[in-house]
Amino acid sequence: MSSPPEKAARYGKILRRLDALLAGETDGIAIMATIVCELHHGFDHFHWTGFYRLTEPGMLRVGPYQGGHGCLAISLDRGVCGKCATDGETQIVEDVNAIPWHIACSGTTRSEIVVPVKNRTGQVVAVLDVDSDLPSAFDVTDARFLETICAFLIA
Ligand code: SME
Repeated sequence: MSSPPEKAARYGKILRRLDALLAGETDGIAIMATIVCELHHGFDHFHWTGFYRLTEPGMLRVGPYQGGHGCLAISLDRGVCGKCATDGETQIVEDVNAIPWHIACSGTTRSEIVVPVKNRTGQVVAVLDVDSDLPSAFDVTDARFLETICAFLIA
């Protein structure tokens, strides 16, 4: 896993690529798919990278993702994703086995970060979920850059 400066530099490269790739794009699914592709292939320790969309009150449904199969639907009273969508705050989980509300889509996941996607009025409309098989893979640098990347989705 890279040092904080290396991680920040890699995120900066991804941001510049997304700026170019998403110029003029307004379709949310196309934007999500492009973000997920760039992130998943940008970091070796991103083992599942994907969006869950708030498709109806109280329910998240899987959106574009890369990695093994993810849960198709997550109610807001479950999982790290549900907590992120409910609280509207980024969740950094250093050890998923230490929190009983974690939903394990893979038995090899050790750590996770989930970032809220908000619209212009500040309402949560989706979350970006990244799982890693490495413990403590995510920190405030990831949170800052992933939150910035999610801003590409603000219509
Ligand atoms: N771990 C998530 C569920 C999504 S799968 O990891 C892709 C959670 O606890 O909400």
